[in-house]
Amino acid sequence: MVTKEDLLYRMVFTLKDGARVLIRPLVKEDKQALLDLFLNVSYEDRRYMRHNVNDPEVVSSFVDNLDYDRIFPMVAVVNDRIVGDATLHFNTGTARHRGELRIFLAKDFRGRGLGNKLVQAITEIAKRRSLYMLEVQIVRDLTSDIKALERLGFETVCIFEDYFMLPDGELKDIVHMINRIRPPVSEF
Ligand SMILES: CC(C)(COP(=O)(O)OP(=O)(O)OC[C@H]1O[C@@H](n2cnc3c(N)ncnc32)[C@H](O)[C@@H]1OP(=O)(O)O)[C@@H](O)C(=O)NCCC(=O)NCCS
Repeated sequence: MVTKEDLLYRMVFTLKDGARVLIRPLVKEDKQALLDLFLNVSYEDRRYMRHNVNDPEVVSSFVDNLDYDRIFPMVAVVNDRIVGDATLHFNTGTARHRGELRIFLAKDFRGRGLGNKLVQAITEIAKRRSLYMLEVQIVRDLTSDIKALERLGFETVCIFEDYFMLPDGELKDIVHMINRIRPPVSEF
């Protein structure tokens, strides 16, 4: 269950180039700033995303249906602008030890160390929930994003061929990556 402490999570830092960033959980008052982030996503980026984030109704639903016990969203804020969004998706039953990470940064904030900080923040929440691993699924073509995720601790474990359908119907492979954040319980 989400705790008061989780909702009060804050990380404040300065990027190497001087930008001051606050990472905190998304709240319903963020709707406009989240719309501003996602409505500006280019078609080139959007075609590799699960949802049509150019549709205001889709983005509004992220905020209107906030349920931190199902999906824990963190945003990175610079001068009241949301420049990054990362979500931790919880599972139930036999998958309850795994969480899925989805992350998206504004283009002008990539490659500046922000992904690193957002993954740290999500990992902190995941550890508080005693998760064993974080997973990411990403289209195989996004080689530089995959390299960045490797630098952030994720390892490719398998590839699902033709698993992702682009808006135009073209099929793409998905890379399934895992970051183990807690060692398995050892037997003795
Ligand atoms: C993938 C993504 C989250 C990475 O975040 P980022 O802020 O660009 O990454 P960082 O600047 O924190 O860099 C993280 C590490 O990757 C390395 N890296 C970053 N971009 C890289 C690239 N293009 N090629 C190789 N390494 C790269 C950095 O040097 C850094 O390694 P280090 O800590 O050892 O120096 C971000 O680029 C993004 O939002 N991409 C679009 C959406 C996406 O692909 N999401 C993933 C699917 S869920």
